Amino acid sequence: MRALTVLGIETSCDETAAAVVRGRAPGPGEILSNIVFSQLEEHRPYGGVVPEIASRAHVEKLDGIVAEALAAAHIKLSDVDAVAATAGPGLIGGVMVGLTTAKALALAAGKPLIAINHLEAHALTARLTDGVKFPFLLLLISGGHCQLLSVEGVGRFRLYGTTIDDAVGEAFDKTAKLLDLPYPGGPRIEALAKNGNALRYVLPRPMRGRIGADFSFSGLKTAVRQLVLGGGIDAADIAASFQAAVIDILVERTKAAMGAFRSDFPDAGDAALVVAGGVAANGAIRRALTDLAEQEGFEKKIPPPGLCTDNAAMIAWAGVEHGQLGYFDGIGVSPKARWPLAGTPLGGRIGAPAKG
Ligand code: KG4
Ligand code: ZN
Repeated sequence: MRALTVLGIETSCDETAAAVVRGRAPGPGEILSNIVFSQLEEHRPYGGVVPEIASRAHVEKLDGIVAEALAAAHIKLSDVDAVAATAGPGLIGGVMVGLTTAKALALAAGKPLIAINHLEAHALTARLTDGVKFPFLLLLISGGHCQLLSVEGVGRFRLYGTTIDDAVGEAFDKTAKLLDLPYPGGPRIEALAKNGNALRYVLPRPMRGRIGADFSFSGLKTAVRQLVLGGGIDAADIAASFQAAVIDILVERTKAAMGAFRSDFPDAGDAALVVAGGVAANGAIRRALTDLAEQEGFEKKIPPPGLCTDNAAMIAWAGVEHGQLGYFDGIGVSPKARWPLAGTPLGGRIGAPAKG
């Protein structure tokens, strides 16, 4: 297969990003440029992402970021093979900005357009970085998602578990807010936890031992709120106890999904456990999942932190994979606020092929 060079655009949340990636499946690919503008300062006063502010910032920044990405890659728009953009899921205003810009660039330059599912891009990042083979088991942990899936090919997923309430990143962010830490909470909690005693507070491990591989985090957050309301708490000990609970939950649920994956793919002896999404930037979580993979005979693949949090290199790479299969999109393709990768096994159905 011929290597493709793709311009990628990401605007689904609070990073405005553009990147140029060259490569061929199964990877690894070459990141020619990867520009990320984080809107953190814009949202910080509000303690979370404000959709209207995000859309406006994307509109203001995106053209410059795209120009920067092309310049840093030493390439002209006329020399790329395709333009890829996140078409969902995410904040609809932001997704529209990125997708519309990609359409305009593709039309102007006479290049094909590729509409990318943001979650699939997180999933395929381990092929960009390590050339991971299909099928692999994916733990996707971000601000909006917490899922365990098998990834069998481009667009081919099987869901083993999802969260019945909050996403794990959301739990980090809400816990941080309770401790008066600024948004985004994940990195703050991680830093604070380093000096805390994880055994100090007894926190619940929701869903532990349940059939299936679904998650729940709202009870954990509520327990933290109760402690904080009780007063006299030590923030570092709370952070450490919270993070330890999250790690226990992630490890136990991932282990359950590993069993299901093994029975679905008995011949995939050297399969990988891939961890993706912003929360995979957490060092303690990375270590715990690395240990689990070793114990269970999975190869561990966790992209470097900068490619776990939102970026456009993953969008460009997903574009490479789609392009090589001839999966292009018409200029009329619509942005989607919701766009799940696979059917939902809420309630514990595990191992059955996902519908749709
Ligand atoms: O994938 P991402 O950049 O955006 C979404 O698609 O959601 O993930 C952002 C989430 C936030 O909730 C943030 O608090 C969390 O990832 N996060 C972390 C860490 N770095 C980012 N959570 C725990 N530890 C970290 N070091
Ligand atoms: Zn993301």
